[in-house]
Amino acid sequence: MSENHNKHEIYKREGKLYKFSDYTLKRVNEIIERYPEGKQKSALIPLLHIAQEEFGGSLNADIMDYVAGLLSIKPIEVYEVATFYSQFYLDNVGKYVIEICQTGPCLACGGDEMIDYLKTKLGIEAGETTADGIFTLKQVECLGACGYAPVMQVNTCFHENLTKERIDEIIDLYKNQAEKPQSNDEKWVEKFYLRK
Ligand code: FES
Repeated sequence: MSENHNKHEIYKREGKLYKFSDYTLKRVNEIIERYPEGKQKSALIPLLHIAQEEFGGSLNADIMDYVAGLLSIKPIEVYEVATFYSQFYLDNVGKYVIEICQTGPCLACGGDEMIDYLKTKLGIEAGETTADGIFTLKQVECLGACGYAPVMQVNTCFHENLTKERIDEIIDLYKNQAEKPQSNDEKWVEKFYLRK
């Protein structure tokens, strides 16, 4: 979990009505229907990822209430999950969120050097976003890919066996992608929809 994760106003509201696009809603309903009646809550994590992606990169109470309504569960059940996992953001974030692992096995393989390198390269500390709004950097605990340490995740993609040279390539790649009008970024909605 990132170091700033508990400091947010989780009940922040815009008083705005959120609704998935027809395209997304169709896929979301199919994801929910994979679970038996009364067990729709099992679709909560996919739905939070999709909501975060569709509604500007972060969550607020209005969005979490909307997700609760789709799953017929209480809003508090959504808040509990959204505030527990570091992959859900309650603050504005950049287009690409870099989560770099700060747990033992990654550090033993040079992860601390990679963390320092990223901070210097981006000119930000963990929890901050670059001035151009492209990158947010977070230090997180084990990403579950210790065999490929050091590891970081950028939005939906894992990047493993990091070196300084590899980080340079990855940052260039995302910077170039950010400048393109049509994004080729992989979407959570497609990832979860295809994972049957
Ligand atoms: S310790 Fe870094 S991925 Fe597990």
